[in-house]
Amino acid sequence: MGFLHMVAISHPKMARQVLQVQDNIFSNRPAIIVISYLTYDRADMAFAYYGPFWRHMRKLNVMKLFSRKRTESWESIRDEGFIRILQEFSKLFGAFNIADFIPWLGWVDPQGLNTRLEKARSALDKFIDTIIEDHIEKKKWNNGGFDDGDTDMVDDLHIFYTEEAKTNELEDLQNSIKLTRDNIKAIIMEVIFGGTETVASAIEWALAELLRNPKEMKRVQQVTEVVGLERNVEESDFDKLTDKNSWEDPDSFRPSRFLREGVPDFKGNNFEFIPFGSGRRSCPGMQLGLYALDMAVAHLLHCFTWELPDGMKPSELDMSDIFGLTAPRATRLYAVPKKRQVCPLF
Ligand code: HEM
Repeated sequence: MGFLHMVAISHPKMARQVLQVQDNIFSNRPAIIVISYLTYDRADMAFAYYGPFWRHMRKLNVMKLFSRKRTESWESIRDEGFIRILQEFSKLFGAFNIADFIPWLGWVDPQGLNTRLEKARSALDKFIDTIIEDHIEKKKWNNGGFDDGDTDMVDDLHIFYTEEAKTNELEDLQNSIKLTRDNIKAIIMEVIFGGTETVASAIEWALAELLRNPKEMKRVQQVTEVVGLERNVEESDFDKLTDKNSWEDPDSFRPSRFLREGVPDFKGNNFEFIPFGSGRRSCPGMQLGLYALDMAVAHLLHCFTWELPDGMKPSELDMSDIFGLTAPRATRLYAVPKKRQVCPLF
């Protein structure tokens, strides 16, 4: 496309070659202009160049940030201003930019992307700078250390903070990792974005597919009945709710296919279905994401029955997606809940 060479891989055998057999060659992720700018020039982990810095970041992130123990609540995520910033990030990540394909056409910028990018990143800067400053203050109050019982993601990252710009990658390799303020900002953005938009989009798709397939919806709701309607679903119930299914008719949404013995799984070992990718750059937030997704969908289906509004037929539901990091739905899903559970909801 334009000046970029692109190859689409659409067969599991080829996907295995790229993501597993030869993944040392294919482990660098390309970054379009929007992504480079919004990640502070690839100062994050997801778009970091494949090399020692990425390796350290990944280790640090997996150990410190993607653990299921991390249940902190982020007041800022509920802040309307912050939500608007994330929504603009999401739109920008999905915007088509001709300059990615024909660099010398960058000056044309018919969508005003360059101005939007600057605005979006400076809005995020203000937000995250305040969070970082608050943490530095807190550290001062605690005589230079963090109170063990009360550390969060920013505290964990701050331990590696350095005010000097990194001189070279070799330094990362020799010493333990050092993070600049841009690294910290980019990682915070990534974890918040990665942890919200991906899961929200998956929940919306799951409900839309179920509403379009009332038989499957019924089946899933019957499964949730093992819990009984007198209490909420808990994580320990998940094993009892698992459906193990077949692989025929791949274009139909049939979650019950996963109930069958020996069916390909989705965790990156079977290349027929890789929603979390596979290989060394696969999703480190999978467990966290699945937990949030399973919990939300289980609660929504266990507590309510769902109908489409205004007598809309399931076949009339718009199932198109739009381009973006999380392949979001083209139109928002509207559905009407009716309480099903007999115990109090909260
Ligand atoms: C339903 C939820 C999610 C889905 C479907 C999803 C999907 C993906 C996919 C497809 C990739 C690229 C894999 C590859 O290139 O092979 C990825 C990478 C990544 N995801 Fe997720 N993800 C989800 C949730 C999360 C969460 C909750 C977090 C963090 C809190 C997260 C953080 C990341 C990061 C940092 C990477 C880049 C890893 C690297 O380049 O080394 N994801 N994710």
